[in-house]
Amino acid sequence: MTAPNPRPEPEARLWCFERAGMARRKKIYEGKAKILYEGPEPGTIVQYFKDDATAFNAQKKATIEGKGVLNNRLSEFFMTGLNTIGVPTHFIRRLNMREQLVRACEIVPLEIIVRNYAAGSLATRLGIEEGTQLPRPIVEYCYKDDKLGDPLVTEEHIAAFGWASQHDMDDIVALALRVNDFLTGLMYGVGIRLVDFKIEIGRVYDGDFQRLIVADEISPDSMRLWDIETGRKLDKDVFRRDLGDLTDAYTEVARRLGVMPKQATHIAKPKLIN
Ligand code: CDP
Repeated sequence: MTAPNPRPEPEARLWCFERAGMARRKKIYEGKAKILYEGPEPGTIVQYFKDDATAFNAQKKATIEGKGVLNNRLSEFFMTGLNTIGVPTHFIRRLNMREQLVRACEIVPLEIIVRNYAAGSLATRLGIEEGTQLPRPIVEYCYKDDKLGDPLVTEEHIAAFGWASQHDMDDIVALALRVNDFLTGLMYGVGIRLVDFKIEIGRVYDGDFQRLIVADEISPDSMRLWDIETGRKLDKDVFRRDLGDLTDAYTEVARRLGVMPKQATHIAKPKLIN
């Protein structure tokens, strides 16, 4: 008779992996705000949130203490909520303060932007005053290419260049609008207006079937969030437009959503006792 295995095999490997430290991990990709490492199981990835902030296609850069910790927790919160209401995402679970385990997927080379109010590039492009409510949510697509500055593209370009099929696009719009409804309601409940946001979509294969899931991150780095009462900006525009302390703004969002205790991002430094 064989002794029962104290931990199921995949869990055991995950357990060892979490304690193995970063040294043994293979880096797959380093982006502006995140690093991706090979995960413990085939088909998984560890997503590490950095404190780096960039804007204007990386022309403006800074390191903002605590941003990675907040975005890890906020992205976990949004993705978990989406999974709960049946919107598939890549999120599996959070591993620690800065890392989460996600499902590996093939990223569709598009940034999907949903807008409820005019702001940023839409306000500039169409000459609409920032803050004007749009007649209905508008979905836009940008081709993911930093060298080109992520240019706006139409469904014609997407179909012609084969970045996604028409069927994929129908699914992508449906997913984007469900994410919009979910996030709008969630934010409204804590006195925040969801002006616009960006998501990325990944493809996963289940046998012969392909499915599209929400990937990357959902955080104040990729949204515009305005306080409903005061209009205070609680998103990356604080950094883009030098409006104050970015960590304070993101902490406020996390606090209102009940995501993490106040100031948990600032790890206390040792104090000299005289
Ligand atoms: O932010 P900017 O004015 O350059 O671009 P936008 O097209 O007005 O951005 C719309 C929304 O998508 C904002 O919430 C941005 O934060 C987000 N976005 C993003 O997360 N990443 C990009 N590369 C472009 C936009």
